[in-house]
Amino acid sequence: MEPRLQRRVQRYGWDKAAEYYDKSWKDQLKPSQDKLLEMADPKPGEKVIETSCGTGLVTFRIAKKIGANGHILATDLSDTMIDMANSIASDMDFENITFQRMDAEELKVSENKFDLGICSLGLMYFPFPDKALKELFRALKPEGRVAVSVWGERKNCGWAEIFPIVDKHVASDVCPMFFQQGTGNTLRFNMEKAGFTDIESERFPATIHYPNDDEALTAAFAGGPVALAYQKFDDTTRNIVHKDYLTSIQLYKTDNGYDIPGEFVVMKGVKK
Ligand SMILES: C[S@@+](CC[C@H](N)C(=O)[O-])C[C@H]1O[C@@H](n2cnc3c(N)ncnc32)[C@H](O)[C@@H]1O
Repeated sequence: MEPRLQRRVQRYGWDKAAEYYDKSWKDQLKPSQDKLLEMADPKPGEKVIETSCGTGLVTFRIAKKIGANGHILATDLSDTMIDMANSIASDMDFENITFQRMDAEELKVSENKFDLGICSLGLMYFPFPDKALKELFRALKPEGRVAVSVWGERKNCGWAEIFPIVDKHVASDVCPMFFQQGTGNTLRFNMEKAGFTDIESERFPATIHYPNDDEALTAAFAGGPVALAYQKFDDTTRNIVHKDYLTSIQLYKTDNGYDIPGEFVVMKGVKK
């Protein structure tokens, strides 16, 4: 897909998804975010930059760790995500966070400024993930650390049929290379290409639980990466894609809803 179009699909798609995001994904993404925080190890007083922060699920946890003497600049391409994160921050009285709309591939910050760079589950959506990693590298001070996470391999993510199911009805080209970063050594290669050294990586399975059909469908269609395509579907098409998606995850149905397998890759590195 043409990079400009991909950015537009992302920007306006996540605007649509924002209101469903926390309810659909907060618990389900926690294992990945826990591991990311453990590997990032934010310290009191640190200056942090985050790309693709979404509603701030990781941002707020980092803000607590870096404390009042630290600061996190949390950025995202979607205005609605930034608005939502800002409103949560003001409700919670955070004063060490600045949320700002920004493309991860073009950070509007000067170089050598931050101690820590974060990108949680964002790289799959960028036209040029390698460029976004280079931008984080540029923004970090010497000895600065980076920690990033992506979904793992397609064959280990039981919800992956969502893409072809939606594509059958609209050439959404949501994320043509969605699983590329989490497959083989692609992410490590891009981290090295950006200049990072001392790279450490963890790949691990996780279970994505939804208690019923409705919540599984909302997460997959309204609250995730196909939201822009989905909101254009009429009722008939929605019924078809719902049925197809539920069939594709039938294997993971339990007495309590669905336990869908997933896989995450979390990686950290240093700017020497
Ligand atoms: C799955 S959400 C992840 C949100 C958050 N980091 C988390 O872990 O919950 C992906 C986010 O990437 C953002 N995004 C997509 N393309 C982007 C780009 N080129 N630059 C910055 N953010 C982007 C979307 O707007 C969305 O908020």
